[in-house]
Amino acid sequence: MNEKKVTVIGLLGSPHRKGNTEQLLDRFLSGASDAGGLTEKVILVNLSYSSCKGCNACHVTGFCIMDDDIVRLYDRLLGADCVVTTSPIYTMGITTELKSFIDRAHYLWVRHYQLGEHVIAPEQKILRRGYFLSTAGMDMSDVFRTAFPMMKALFNILGFTYCANILARNMDGYGGIGGHPTALDDAYKAGFEAVKGIEEKIPCQGEEKRG
Ligand SMILES: Cc1cc2nc3c(=O)[nH]c(=O)nc-3n(C[C@H](O)[C@H](O)[C@H](O)COP(=O)(O)O)c2cc1C
Repeated sequence: MNEKKVTVIGLLGSPHRKGNTEQLLDRFLSGASDAGGLTEKVILVNLSYSSCKGCNACHVTGFCIMDDDIVRLYDRLLGADCVVTTSPIYTMGITTELKSFIDRAHYLWVRHYQLGEHVIAPEQKILRRGYFLSTAGMDMSDVFRTAFPMMKALFNILGFTYCANILARNMDGYGGIGGHPTALDDAYKAGFEAVKGIEEKIPCQGEEKRG
């Protein structure tokens, strides 16, 4: 019997605690935990890290010269089965906290695409799952559009399959995430199914949920 629990790391990209985005993430992690997964929530705004300085030292060494919380977080993410990135939409994009975190993956991009190291083997990537959860105030159909290519890039660098988005727009109209008809339940189900799917070695379909 395989005793190893499925590990799920949720990254809160909102600097606002207990807001719409964190509530959505908490539902995903509850679903994952109820399915038997080992969950961890990382509050990016509480970590100590700088944005990428573009020094390009990693182009030679494959390592980042900054020794801080982000490098240790990336080490943990490389060993996780599932990652959930989250952000509210700020000025039509993701937050500074999440973008700075993503840029710091550049040394892993270098290792994979320039130094020819497989950070994660292709056969492992099939079962490793990445999800993106986001909230926005406005009721605009393409309000999340700029975030998708960034998540795709991050999941590619880290060797996760981009499984799904759980998106809740019109927070202003609904009076917050609690008023949204489906998002919290969708997040719970996605968390539950992520753990069960990984346990049962079912590759996700990579189907993105818009809405
Ligand atoms: C600085 C800032 C910029 C924002 N920009 C946008 C925006 O461009 N489009 C939008 O739909 N909502 C925007 N919002 C609203 C948030 O996306 C929305 O309220 C979100 O649910 C907040 O999530 P939180 O409670 O986790 O902080 C903005 C909010 C802030 C604080």
